[in-house]
This record gives sequence, structure tokens and C-alpha cells, in this order.
Amino acid sequence: MSRSREIVLGIGGGIAAYKSADLLRRLKDRGYLVTVVPTPSSLNFVGAATWEALSGRPVTTEVWEKVEEVRHVTLAKKATAVLIAPATADLIARIVQGRADDLLTNVVLATSAPIFIVPAMHPEMWANKSTRANVKTLRDRGVFVMEPDVGRLTGSDIGQGRFPDTSSIISAFEGELGFKQDLIGKRVLVSAGGTREAIDPVRYIGNRSSGKQGIAIAQAAFERGAEVCLVLANSSIAVTPGVSVVNVETADQMFSALSNEFQKSDLLFMSAAIADAKPSQFSPAKIKKDDLHQIELTKNPDILSALSSNKTQQRIVAFAAETNDDEIKALEKMKSKGADFIYLNNVSNGEIFGQDRTSGTIISKSGAPHKVQDISKDTLAHLLLDLASVKLD
Ligand code: CTP
Repeated sequence: MSRSREIVLGIGGGIAAYKSADLLRRLKDRGYLVTVVPTPSSLNFVGAATWEALSGRPVTTEVWEKVEEVRHVTLAKKATAVLIAPATADLIARIVQGRADDLLTNVVLATSAPIFIVPAMHPEMWANKSTRANVKTLRDRGVFVMEPDVGRLTGSDIGQGRFPDTSSIISAFEGELGFKQDLIGKRVLVSAGGTREAIDPVRYIGNRSSGKQGIAIAQAAFERGAEVCLVLANSSIAVTPGVSVVNVETADQMFSALSNEFQKSDLLFMSAAIADAKPSQFSPAKIKKDDLHQIELTKNPDILSALSSNKTQQRIVAFAAETNDDEIKALEKMKSKGADFIYLNNVSNGEIFGQDRTSGTIISKSGAPHKVQDISKDTLAHLLLDLASVKLD
């Protein structure tokens, strides 16, 4: 399972605070959405302006700032992890005591997200019995406390207490907290929503697709480190910042947006419901009801077939919203459109469109069909990503 990448980065008042500027940059490169919460004393080492510039978000240190936002509770709820780096002996002691004397310790008390602490201090302070006992208490409570590195400290001292290098912090943090980052360096293209084909300025031919499944896939891929482009038709659902969104209305616009991105993508998820036909002529004036007898239609391009006929490295997942459970027909549809997988769901009882949960069958070229029953669209997103990204070079 992967998690959303909204994290709080707490900064304690130690000289290693400056090294966390690099940590913050690397976290952002990996797609984390980071709010920095420095302790007031840490601002002696690195000022709020640095954190604001690097994180692109406002930075506060006290509960008395931006009171109307009730920031400690908002941040505590929003975060899927709290990473504190560096943590001083004093900050560790305050967390052990359950104190709430600045914004960071308030967030720590108010959150139910996992907490990951990276201590950095003078070796004598790290070895001190109080610190040893405090670290043990935190570990007993389920807080992850990393071991500091051994080496040269700020002065001439040598010992255990150094801030570990950024890459070991990130790999320990991701490994310990289960952040799955298996799609770094991959480009994922997703189509979602339902296209609309205008009849006149008022009316259109459309469908009931909400875009939820495709948005869930785009967000899951982003959480797992991919660069994601979402071509979204007529959906007002909010999308995680970081996913690049191209809004379209018609099948033709969707075709052109997908064509621009397809060649450079590794995975394509065609979850959009594309109108199979459009009015042959658009009436610029509203058609009066007495003149509205019939609409002549022209077929829209089959976007998936057109894209797959030029495929190179791409893995393609198609979707089939049907009013039956015919797996043989779905398999034929998948093959005829050049896809590698197809997710078949039966929408006849109206239980899928616009809902948060889904049931259906994942069909692939090889292997038995995999049925899923009443799972969240996020879970399906991860399942499809797991399947489609196997052995992707
Ligand atoms: N699709 C597409 N272009 C279209 C229609 C559909 O790329 N003009 C894609 C959808 O995004 C989906 C897959 O093809 O991933 C199957 O969609 P579906 O509507 O089931 O396929 P159709 O070819 O329209 O088949 P049917 O005759 O059953 O409607």
C-alpha cells in the first residue's frame, strides 16, 4: 500500500537544521507535499523565509499565528507522516513529556499519523541517560527514532550524534513508513471523465462518467513517484497538486491532448468514457424544440486503437463499462484495441458511476481474470498500477 504524500517536516533548533534544506528539496523532488514547521529556536539557524521559499508554503512556528486556521489541528489531520529532522535533545524531551509549547509539539500531540524522528546533537547529549531514556520511551510508544551517524560534529568532537545523510534519511523514512516509490522516473498518462459533444450552445451528447476512477489512478501514480499527466474531461473533482491536468471537453480535444503525451509515456490508463459519436453539425444558435426531431451523428475516432497502433514501450490499460459481465467479449475488446489489460465493470444497476467504490474484473492477455468486489477506487488504482508496472524498464 502506498500513502498520500502530504507530510509535515519539523525542524528542531540544532545546527543540522541547514542540512534539512537539502532534505526538503529531495522530498519535494520525490513528489512529497511538505509543510515545514520549525521550532522558534531553530529560526536562529535557518529562517522562515528559507523554508517558505523551498516548500512553497507558508511557515509558522507558534499556535498564535494564523489562529483562524487552527493550524496545529489542520496540519495534524492532513499529514500522513510527521518527519522531524533534526530533533534536538530538548525537542525529544518535550515530545516525551507531551508538552505543547510551540506549533510543532502541538502537531505531534494532535496527529494520529506516524512520527519519524532524526536526532542530531552532541555525542555526550545523545549518550546522556536522560536522552537514552527519552529515546527508549518514544520507541516504546511506536515513534520511529533513527540512529544518528557517527563522525565529526560541528566542533572538533567525534562521536555519535551527526545528522545522517539525506539519502539514508529518505530511504529509512520511506521504508519504515511504507511509502511506495516504485514509479520514480516513469511517466503515466491517464484519461478520465466523460466527453461532451455539443449539439448547440445549450445541449450536448454526454455520459455519466464522473472521472473518479481515473483521478484515483492519477493520484496513486503520483504518490508512487511517477510524473503524471491527466487528461480530464468535464469533471469538477479536485486533483492533487503535482498531477499535471489538461482539461478537455470533446473526444477530438481528448485525442489531441493524449496524442501529445502518448509517445513519452510508459503507462496509459484509458478510463475516460468517450462519446462514440458527435453531431455532424454544431448549430451555433439554440435549436428550437419544434425543430429538434433528429440529430445526425458522425463517428468519433477510437482514440485507444489509434494510440495503440503506434505504441512502443507503453503498457495500456483499457476500461469497459458494460451492462453485462461478459469476460470473453471484454478480452476481445482489449485485444482489438491493442491494450494489455482491461477493467470490466457492470454499470447496469447504477452502482459504479460517481461512487467511491467499485466492483469488476481485471482481465489480462495471460492469467486468469481477477475479480474485485466492493473495493475503493483508490485500491483498484493501486492494483492496476501494480499489474501494469510489472517489469517495466
Ligand atoms: N475508447 C476510446 N475511444 C472511443 C471509445 C472508447 O479510446 N471512441 C476507449 C475507452 O476509453 C475505454 C475503451 O476504449 O478504455 C473501451 O471503451 P468502450 O466504450 O467500452 O468501447 P467501445 O469501442 O465504445 O465499445 P462499445 O461498442 O461496447 O461501446
